Amino acid sequence: MFASIERVPGDAILGLIELFNQDNNPNKIDLGVGVYRNSQGHTPILQSVREAEALLLTRETTKAYIGSHGAPDFAQHMLPMILGEQSPVLAQQRASLTQSPGGTGALRIAHDFISRCLGTDRRVWVSNPTWPNHHAIIKAAGLTSAQYRYVDEHNQLDFSGMLEDLQQAQAGDVVLLHACCHNPTGFDLSQAQWQQLLELIRERQLLPLLDFAYQGFGDGLEEDAYAVRLFAEQLPEVLITASCSKNFGLYRERVGAFVAIAADATQMETIRSQIAVVARANYSNPPAHGSAIVATILGSQELSTLWHDEVSQMRQRISHLRHSVVDALKPHGLDQQFTCFTEQRGMFSYSGLTPEQVTHLQKEFGIYMVSTGRMNMAGLTEHNLTYFSQALAAVCR
Ligand code: LMR
Repeated sequence: MFASIERVPGDAILGLIELFNQDNNPNKIDLGVGVYRNSQGHTPILQSVREAEALLLTRETTKAYIGSHGAPDFAQHMLPMILGEQSPVLAQQRASLTQSPGGTGALRIAHDFISRCLGTDRRVWVSNPTWPNHHAIIKAAGLTSAQYRYVDEHNQLDFSGMLEDLQQAQAGDVVLLHACCHNPTGFDLSQAQWQQLLELIRERQLLPLLDFAYQGFGDGLEEDAYAVRLFAEQLPEVLITASCSKNFGLYRERVGAFVAIAADATQMETIRSQIAVVARANYSNPPAHGSAIVATILGSQELSTLWHDEVSQMRQRISHLRHSVVDALKPHGLDQQFTCFTEQRGMFSYSGLTPEQVTHLQKEFGIYMVSTGRMNMAGLTEHNLTYFSQALAAVCR
């Protein structure tokens, strides 16, 4: 039976980890998978996480199941972080949170929920380009996708193209949006643009699904929640997927959340019952350790303050690097070509490099990035900037 199964290529992003590890070039630079790196090029365990784990070691009394929706204290702390302390949506009890195995798990629950409860005859509109796994998850849930324009041929945000394409969506279609730090481009909508998009979504009766994987990496934890909170407060039905991978540095612990907002508390309870069935059929209960770390941090004034500082430091380091790399490109006459680095936000930059240039960087210089030209800016350090800019100059010649 297995003889007829075809081999498929490795994942465009995760496959780079292995290739990078096998490369013997002493100057190699990993700008592939989206993990934060410090100035030593290391992905550290946050101090707030270390302290929370030490507390958990003494406090935890059981490893019994935590239930399909996850730990209640995790939900209690995450909901205000996502929706705002004073959110009217919380006061009206319209929001349900289901803990998930990472942001990816949240996206899978979201799409399985759509497919199970709303049917498969609606399309999910995704940005072109988007995180490649969006396409895979939509397909795995039995749904079909459609694309809206997001960047133009000059590697700039194409907001009018986006609106024009979404005018073609049918009532009931889902629009998957990156709430902040767009992956892969790094181009985010302004507040005025979010408001315009909200009107289109309202008018055309579309269902927004906001992928919120990088809260804290754009302009700040509160600032980055602008679109999520605007939509949650202005629309009766909204879906949100959140991740604690990046802002808590808990990548391998798999901590995320699926938030469903309904028109009222009764509807919320109804859809919550359906979401439990979706989670149960996927993995039954989410893993508990990572969510316990998050709940411990957010539940402690002291750890929370420390964590806020650590998130700011990560954000500021990346933002600083964005400017440093453009400075380092000046002597090569490339600063104008790459001003996009300072306009984009979050971990990623869509560099505008062609797949051939990306291959050239990889083969000749040991610099790894996704073939679409997406770079993880956090992979640059003060030590490798010169080497990186020389290599970029060589492939752009
Ligand atoms: C990325 O886009 O690099 C990250 O979100 C990691 C992943 O799972 O692809």
